[in-house]
Formats: sequence, C-alpha cells, structure tokens
Amino acid sequence: MTTQDELRLGVIGLGRAFTLMLPTFVGHPKLRLVAASDPRKDAVSRFAAEFQAKGYDTPENLCADPDVQAVYVASPHQFHLEHVRLAAAHGKHILVEKPMALSVDACLAMIAAARNARVQLLVGHSHSYDLPYLRTRDMIVSGRYGRVRMINALNFTDFLYRPRRPEELDTQQGGGVVFSQAAHQIDVVRLLATSKAATVRAFTGNWDARRPTEGAYNAQMSFDDGTFASLTYSGYAHFDTDEFNGWRGELGQARDPDAYGRARMALKQAQSAADEIDIKNRRAYGPVGTDGFRIDPDMTHNHFGLVIVSCEHADLRPTPRGIIVYADENRWIEPIEQPRVPRAEVVDELYDAVFNGKPPLHSGAWGLATLEACLGILDSAGSGATVSLMHQV
Ligand SMILES: NC(=O)c1ccc[n+]([C@@H]2O[C@H](COP(=O)([O-])OP(=O)(O)OC[C@H]3O[C@@H](n4cnc5c(N)ncnc54)[C@H](O)[C@@H]3O)[C@@H](O)[C@H]2O)c1
Repeated sequence: MTTQDELRLGVIGLGRAFTLMLPTFVGHPKLRLVAASDPRKDAVSRFAAEFQAKGYDTPENLCADPDVQAVYVASPHQFHLEHVRLAAAHGKHILVEKPMALSVDACLAMIAAARNARVQLLVGHSHSYDLPYLRTRDMIVSGRYGRVRMINALNFTDFLYRPRRPEELDTQQGGGVVFSQAAHQIDVVRLLATSKAATVRAFTGNWDARRPTEGAYNAQMSFDDGTFASLTYSGYAHFDTDEFNGWRGELGQARDPDAYGRARMALKQAQSAADEIDIKNRRAYGPVGTDGFRIDPDMTHNHFGLVIVSCEHADLRPTPRGIIVYADENRWIEPIEQPRVPRAEVVDELYDAVFNGKPPLHSGAWGLATLEACLGILDSAGSGATVSLMHQV
C-alpha cells in the first residue's frame, strides 16, 4: 500500500473515546494519524511527538489542514454539531462519536452539512460495528433460521461509577446511560431486527442522588414487521454481564472475576468534581509518561452484554468468540476468527465510504434513528406513553 492509499485522519478530542480507538488507528494498515486538536496542550504535544503528526490549538485550524482527509470527532457530545459542521465546511469526511448529538434537529443539521459538502458522515464507534453482531445479521438475512421474532439485550456494568465530567451526570447536557449506553444497545438491536423500529416504551432509573442522572433503563421496542425487543441496561450494577461472555470485557479483554467493586472503590478517592475530572483525564490520552496503548495478542471481539435473537428456528447468541446457534435439535458455535486489529470494522467502513464510495451502514441517517430512539426512552419514561418513532431507517 502506498501512502496515497492511506486514510489520513485528524482527531478532535484526545480523551477516553480516543484512547479506546487508538489501538485501531495505530494497528489498521489503511489509516494514518496526521493531526489532533484538544484544549489539553500536553496531550496534543505528546500526540505530535508520538505520531510525527501536527498538533493544533483549535478544531478550526485542524479542519483547515489540507493534509487531513477525514476527521474523527471525539469531543464531548455537546460539541459534536459544531465540530461536524466545521469539518464539513472544510470538505473533510467525518466519523463522529456516538451519540451523534443531543437532539433530532442537531442530527438533521449534521446530515445536511455533510450532504451539502459532499462528504461522508459516519457515526461511531458503536458496538453494532462489532463483527459478531455483523455476522449474526448476515446469518439472519440468509433466511436459514427463519425470520426474527424477538430480541433480548441485557447489559450490567459499573458505568455510573467510572470517573465522569459533571455534564456526564446531567441529563440536560447529555449525561446518563440513555445517551451514552443506549446509543450502543439500540444500535445493536436495530442492526439485528432487520426491520424499521416503530415504537418505544420505557422506564428509567435515577437512583443515586450523588450521581443525579439515569443510571438504568428498561425499554420495549416494536418493529414494523412485528418483531419486538427488550433492552435492559444497568450502570449501577453489582452483577456484571461479562460473566455471560466468558469473562471477556466490552473491549474483548480478559477480565478478572475476582476484581470485584473496583470502580466504586476507585471513585472514593475523588473528593470533588475537579478530582473526578483529574481521575478521568488519567484514563485519557495524556502527557508523556501516562498510559500508552497496546494491542493485546489474547484479545477477542468487543461485545455489549448478553444479546439473544430469537428466530423462528433458532436462538442466536453473538459472543466475543463466535455466534452460538441454539437450533431445534442441535447447538453449535459458528466461530469467528480472532481480531488482528481491534474494532477494525470501523476503519474498514470509513475507508470503503471515502475511497470506494460505498454507502456506509452507520451513516448520519442511521445515527439519527438511534438517537431518536434514545430520546424516545427518555420521553416515554417521563410521560408513561408509548412513543412513535418517525426518523427510522
Ligand atoms: N464508542 C465508545 O466506545 C466511546 C467511549 C467513550 C466515549 N465515547 C464518546 O466520545 C465522546 C467523548 O467522550 P470521552 O469519554 O472521550 O470524554 P473525555 O472527557 O475523556 O474526552 C473528551 C476530550 O475532548 C477534549 N475537548 C473538550 N472540548 C473540546 C473542544 N472544544 N475541542 C476539542 N477537544 C475538546 C477534552 O479535553 C478531552 O480530551 C462522547 O461523545 C462519548 O459518548 C465513545
């Protein structure tokens, strides 16, 4: 591959999301990191030195760099609209983190900006890029197991007790598990349903006054073809659904079943919001000397908890190592090759869109549909009504 065939990526926001994508960006042979901007100057300096890349003081200056072909918007949710508009205005292709934005109007504005600029807009990473879910969808589409009737998705984590910025604990500013985690779970369920979502009815839990936002939800979704789904998430969990995935974590990493309660214990060190930001930033890409990245040779695929798709002739259970098929008379696993680059699917889809003009699955319209369903969870939990969805694809 010549350097001309590499996708030259600029990054806005070197925080936690970027650190999770870093092994992907470094390991993927078709991508090169060429620039970054972040208000944290020490992180930008380290990035420039580590990747022989350019560091910028503002997203505007990064977007104006002619060497940047595509921009990864990994700033906090509330900046996604502004940063997508900037990138589009400079003719850059865009990968914007989930949730795409905080309102339907903001998503529509982002889609319009990309369309007018004739650039590709993808939303992600979300776990619906994970190969086990994509393969499960292929198996469903093959028709071999009959049509999908019901989907159950369950995820129990310590999400709410990981270190957070104050706005991540304020629903009005996009805080809580509905914006951050339903964006993954709804994406996975929509991918596997293979029909357009129609309605959502939900309950949410806001149970810890010290962390005053939604930490849990249960949602029922219906789809145009009669499929129905149940989505449950707890970010307050003591139980951990990684137990149902062979003690593999969300990133495909090995988990120690005896490392119980670590997030809650670590959070006790924070005496103030400033302390908590400090602890969060230590998990981000920081100054030289802080955590680096590594590609774990033992990793499996990413996952998002327990997912069971009930088809007419089999239940399908995607796992980090393959898809377990529970058919009428037999049970077996359709193995999936171990990933060489974690989350390679994200770069593959972005690359295909930019270089081969292949319409992305995780387009702006896709991200809008998921965000609309997230907002539907909040609306339904508040009003007690079933919410009809109008922007589904
Ligand atoms: N897909 C995933 O697995 C995943 C994981 C974590 C976060 N996310 C998403 O990524 C986004 C960022 O979340 P995070 O947890 O990384 O937050 P974070 O606070 O760790 O990182 C945000 C980074 O953006 C920087 N920033 C703030 N304002 C900026 C600006 N105006 N211009 C440029 N950079 C700016 C901050 O300094 C920080 O480095 C959120 O939308 C979140 O939902 C996705």
